[in-house]
Amino acid sequence: MSDASAPSSAFQNCTASAGPAGKTLLETRGLSKNFGGVKAVTDVDFRLGRGELRCLIGPNGAGKSTFFKMLSGQLPPTAGTILFDGSDITGEPPHRIARLGIGIKNQVPSVWDGLSVYEHFFIAAHRRLGARRAAAVADELLMKLGLATLARRDVGALAHGERQWVEIGMTMAQDAKLILLDEPTAGMATDEVERTVALLRDVNVSTSLIIVEHDMQFISMIAGIVTVFHQGRILIEATMENVLANPVVREVYLGAGRPGR
Ligand SMILES: Nc1ncnc2c1ncn2[C@@H]1O[C@H](COP(=O)(O)OP(=O)(O)OP(=O)(O)O)[C@@H](O)[C@H]1O
Ligand SMILES: [Mg+2]
Repeated sequence: MSDASAPSSAFQNCTASAGPAGKTLLETRGLSKNFGGVKAVTDVDFRLGRGELRCLIGPNGAGKSTFFKMLSGQLPPTAGTILFDGSDITGEPPHRIARLGIGIKNQVPSVWDGLSVYEHFFIAAHRRLGARRAAAVADELLMKLGLATLARRDVGALAHGERQWVEIGMTMAQDAKLILLDEPTAGMATDEVERTVALLRDVNVSTSLIIVEHDMQFISMIAGIVTVFHQGRILIEATMENVLANPVVREVYLGAGRPGR
């Protein structure tokens, strides 16, 4: 774990545009999660600078989603500490962590069929803002996400990529300081992935992001520094170029499937 007060050159490189990346926004120390005898996440020391956009990759079962769920409060850690924006949030419930400024889009979609796109954004913003301002935020999100023509459409009738954008928009509605996105481009076509890259770059102007992805095309387009998980631990943190050139990473993926779908 690097000294939180002394940004490394690697961290400086991976900043998009949201503020001073040297300052730590999120840090985990010795973070671990066991499910009975299964060690899903083991002793993870992780640091994210304010304003950073970080991608997490790793083979299936590497512990990425479990790590996210501990950050968002959906799963209590077995051991370790989570520090966010100056507070110890270890073991806090999801609603409190959301209020402190962490939004999450989980790997398993959680949109409500039967409700419209507008209603999703309205409900997500309403928790924070009340009805009048929530309506304005919902309208703004429809424009930002290019979903205005689909505003009244039942989310159940949308294509997979459009449903992903609805979920991303719901995290944006919370005005979070940090958004965690677990596989946001799953099921998207190439042009949709490109649109998502542009959208997330825009989001990153004001919000820090951690993105779990398998799609190497997406990661190559968006990532500065990539953190690679393997068997519940951080294997390497480096630029995508260095990650791909790393023989251990190649071995891990050759043993468990190629990096990407
Ligand atoms: N609720 C749970 N109960 C028991 N074991 C679990 C649970 N959730 C995850 N695991 C196990 O923990 C390990 C890490 O799983 P996790 O879902 O975090 O991996 P992942 O890196 O997100 O994988 P993927 O790329 O397939 O989404 C796996 O061995 C998985 O089977
Ligand atoms: Mg996962």
